[in-house]
Amino acid sequence: MINIIDNKFMTSLVDQLRHTGTEPAEFYRITLLISQLLTYEALKDEEYNIEDIPMWTGEQYPATVFDQKRIVIMPILRAGIGMLDGARHLLPAAQVQILGMYRNEETLQPVWYYNKLPKNMDRQHAILIDPMLATGGTLVDAVQELKKHNCGRITILAIVASPEGIERLEKETPDVQVFVAAKDDHLNDNGYILPGLGDAGDRIFNT
Ligand code: URA
Repeated sequence: MINIIDNKFMTSLVDQLRHTGTEPAEFYRITLLISQLLTYEALKDEEYNIEDIPMWTGEQYPATVFDQKRIVIMPILRAGIGMLDGARHLLPAAQVQILGMYRNEETLQPVWYYNKLPKNMDRQHAILIDPMLATGGTLVDAVQELKKHNCGRITILAIVASPEGIERLEKETPDVQVFVAAKDDHLNDNGYILPGLGDAGDRIFNT
């Protein structure tokens, strides 16, 4: 299920990332902000409990509470790290698991190099974060890996998505909720999103 955020403020943030004059420090700040807003959207369908809490009047109040410990925030290296603190700002008690995958620039296929996932994740909600949903290959691979670990629920947060990547996720991982800030036009022959914003990792990390 793909959710494209329909809010002009979000569009204006993404467009600041597209501007080649946006310096790395500012690029990172806006990436964090978008990540927070995407995380907020993703949490609206969580399970919330009602628990009585003491109130200033001396009475009890039925408060809405949320168990953050069920959430695992999962940045995909390298660019996903740029979104991590935004998600953690909303979910400081969540677990963080890092996935190391890079895209082979010739085959465009994902290659794993770091994975320390726990054996059983059946009680956990994994939130995968990666700024660019390009071919979708990396994210499909990450979702398949999470399923091997019986992950209870999976959500993907991305800043810019290509129609090709969205179509692939819809076809291959239809049970996963995907939240994206912008859907762009197409992928070029090198697997870059157009208009896009260039290499997200390079722009976040000033490389
Ligand atoms: N990764 C990026 O950083 N940018 C793209 O456009 C596609 C993949």
